[in-house]
Amino acid sequence: MGIKSSPSGVGGIQFKFSQASTTVYFDASFTQLGSLADKKNTIIVTDENIFAAHTAKLKGWKTIVLKAGEEYKVQATADDIIHQLIQLEADRKTTLVGMGGGVITDITGYVASVYMRGIAFGFIPTSLLAMADASIGGKNGIDAGVYKNMVGIIRQPNFLLYDVNLLKSLPDAEWQNGFAEIIKHASIKDAAMFSLLEKNDLGTFQKNKKLIAALVERNARIKIKVVQNDEFEKGERKLLNYGHTLGHALENQYQLSHGHAVSIGMAYAAEISRQLTGFTQTERLVKVIHQYGLPAFTKFDKEKVFAVLKMDKKRERKDISYILLEKIGKGVIKSIPLKQLEIIINKFKVPLVGTGI
Ligand SMILES: NC(=O)c1ccc[n+]([C@@H]2O[C@H](COP(=O)([O-])OP(=O)(O)OC[C@H]3O[C@@H](n4cnc5c(N)ncnc54)[C@H](O)[C@@H]3O)[C@@H](O)[C@H]2O)c1
Repeated sequence: MGIKSSPSGVGGIQFKFSQASTTVYFDASFTQLGSLADKKNTIIVTDENIFAAHTAKLKGWKTIVLKAGEEYKVQATADDIIHQLIQLEADRKTTLVGMGGGVITDITGYVASVYMRGIAFGFIPTSLLAMADASIGGKNGIDAGVYKNMVGIIRQPNFLLYDVNLLKSLPDAEWQNGFAEIIKHASIKDAAMFSLLEKNDLGTFQKNKKLIAALVERNARIKIKVVQNDEFEKGERKLLNYGHTLGHALENQYQLSHGHAVSIGMAYAAEISRQLTGFTQTERLVKVIHQYGLPAFTKFDKEKVFAVLKMDKKRERKDISYILLEKIGKGVIKSIPLKQLEIIINKFKVPLVGTGI
């Protein structure tokens, strides 16, 4: 696809997408925000946990502080932000900055894309999941009932500012959630990173700033490249849904965290892969999933979950586009008839036969 990134001075790297560019500041510091955005015309959207942990840093910045949690990634919160923006007299020159996890970056990007038909926005991801995944790629949206990310828009942020020091306040459970997406990237695209994950564990990455900054950048670059190749998800970008089809269906039925839902989804997708692509490395995958404190195979109500899964955005009439693995590091997109998938899911047994788990 040719060279699509170029240095843009002051430590930022510019990545070009089809309709816009994003300047990414890897291994940077929150304090750089002052040189990227003018305090007068900038409003930071964050949540109460992040605000509480980083109040001193936010001094002097206009902020909108939301309640934390996926249940607030809904239209009512978007409306609330819009009303606060009107009160703060935000106009077309205003830049919105989403400083937070994936909930905050998703909803901030969504509001910025519709407020006054679109204003500038940037992200400061604060969770590992947002750093490695959610803040990248321009998908901004909200949930509708049990349907995750049902409403939204694809629009790239103007900048991404990475400060891994912000992870110091991130709870352990959220580190684990982040690793679900990192294991996903390794499984579909990067066998060498998968080996790196096998050699380390959560504690090693939590203790070593250099190691985590490098891991974050490696993951961000994987996602950026996939999005550059296929921004509007006609092909390759679908690979990023590995673990998410079943994962999303489980997430809203069982109030699981995103990371747990995805790791369970990845384990079952590996089992489906065993049946449909001849994938033989489920044991390695499950071992890494457990190594990072995440669940793999878990019981669920197959009928209920299948009913939600049928409504997935990846469904096209009677088939569903499912992401499977051929081997570690190589994800493939497979169109599976819903009927066949239903039969496979109905036959799932926990623990699964033949996986040694
Ligand atoms: N747009 C995309 O491409 C994309 C990709 C993957 C996931 N997502 C979305 O991301 C969301 C999940 O992201 P998430 O796990 O970051 O969720 P989140 O935003 O709910 O953050 C998780 C929790 O960690 C807290 N937190 C975040 N950073 C913190 C910090 N530095 N210190 C202390 N607490 C902190 C938050 O307050 C929250 O309680 C889901 O809504 C998912 O749909 C979007």
